[in-house]
Amino acid sequence: AEPAPLAGRRAVVTAGPTHEPIDPVRYIANRSSGRQGFAVAAALAKLGADVTLVAGPVTLPTPPGVQRVDIETALQMQAAVEAALPADIAVMVAAVADWRTDAEPRKMKKAGSAPPALSLKENPDILAELSRHAERPALVVGFAAETHNVEAHAAAKRTRKGCDWIVANDVSGGVMGGADNRIHLIDETGAEDWPDLPKEEVARRLATRIADHFTKDPS
Ligand code: C5P
Repeated sequence: AEPAPLAGRRAVVTAGPTHEPIDPVRYIANRSSGRQGFAVAAALAKLGADVTLVAGPVTLPTPPGVQRVDIETALQMQAAVEAALPADIAVMVAAVADWRTDAEPRKMKKAGSAPPALSLKENPDILAELSRHAERPALVVGFAAETHNVEAHAAAKRTRKGCDWIVANDVSGGVMGGADNRIHLIDETGAEDWPDLPKEEVARRLATRIADHFTKDPS
């Protein structure tokens, strides 16, 4: 049998985009394949964690041993993360849409006058809320896709959002939707640079790092 250093630990992982409906046929979304988040859920489960994967609309198979909750919008993702608490570990990989709009119940018609103006509301920041939650998981990890000043922006994001670690993803190359990721792991002591790695390997390293963290500090 494989060693299971995370046996008895509960983890919640978010992955994929969210879709914010404009009307029954249109939506607002960020670009996200969900591959990195699904790989993180799979890697944590492989180390024995009890994983809830809150997944936006993606076409990926559920990793073995993972409990999957499918959602569409940021508000639904927020509720599903809440419902997965208490948890020891949270890894928020989802590319949550920053804004939503009040969806029209009927398809908006193009014909006629000017295009419609969308009135946008800000979505909740699920990672920032979880970091300050009464039931805050012991280890909260965020992701950050950055194109420049990657480490500085990610370190600032870590402080602003109140999470423990930020996995900063250099997306200045052709990473979006691709197989590889270039990572800087930022914690309270500084940044660790990882080489260009397949998303599955990034996930395995991260899961191992999480297991080591709980071995050193079992509280
Ligand atoms: O601010 P930014 O979107 O770059 O932050 C990325 C991190 O915050 C990711 O971990 C993402 O899953 C999380 N996030 C979130 N809820 C939002 C926006 C981002 O949980 N509304």
